[in-house]
Amino acid sequence: MRLAVLASGTGSICKAIINADVEVAAVVVDRRCPAIDLAEADNIPVVLVERSNFGTGFDRNQYSTDVVTALQAENIEVVAMAGFGTILGAPFFDAYEGRVLNTHPSLLPSFPGWHAVTDALQHGVRVTGCTVHIATLEVDAGPILAQSPVEIRDDDDENSLHERIKLTERDLYPATIKKFLAQMEKQR
Ligand code: GRF
Repeated sequence: MRLAVLASGTGSICKAIINADVEVAAVVVDRRCPAIDLAEADNIPVVLVERSNFGTGFDRNQYSTDVVTALQAENIEVVAMAGFGTILGAPFFDAYEGRVLNTHPSLLPSFPGWHAVTDALQHGVRVTGCTVHIATLEVDAGPILAQSPVEIRDDDDENSLHERIKLTERDLYPATIKKFLAQMEKQR
């Protein structure tokens, strides 16, 4: 199974996947970001599908098609999103239906969206965590594969809490990806 990781940020989750001996065939990024250097340091091909428009004129479907084209050029069969900063549209989810995984920094269905960590803090919940799920067109809503709880401390801010959640993501996500790939192999 050829796996691609989609990233936009620091790439620490992407790096955890690579470190867990999950074979990553390509890392796809939507902007210049530290994930590029991390992947290249491990000799993993990086494809930049640069998003040039962050305004209202952004053509999400065209961009999604461009991502699919880049993935297909690398013969990618399964995609793991790891902090990818662009919401992809139907052309992507049609091409990879049931074969896109995501990790999200809350216990879904609580706190979907970009501000999951702040939302959990503002809501005053005492436990949050991370969720690995199959990604679908509806953001942060697909079938849940695994979850791990993280306690919220009285002195937590967004940064400290997100870092502790990421510690759990770096274990749970690679382990879940491995299981998922093994299942997909069986079904071949
Ligand atoms: C993770 O918390 C992930 O759940 C969220 O973005 C973060 C990515 O972290 N979608 P990093 O850029 O890999 O450090």
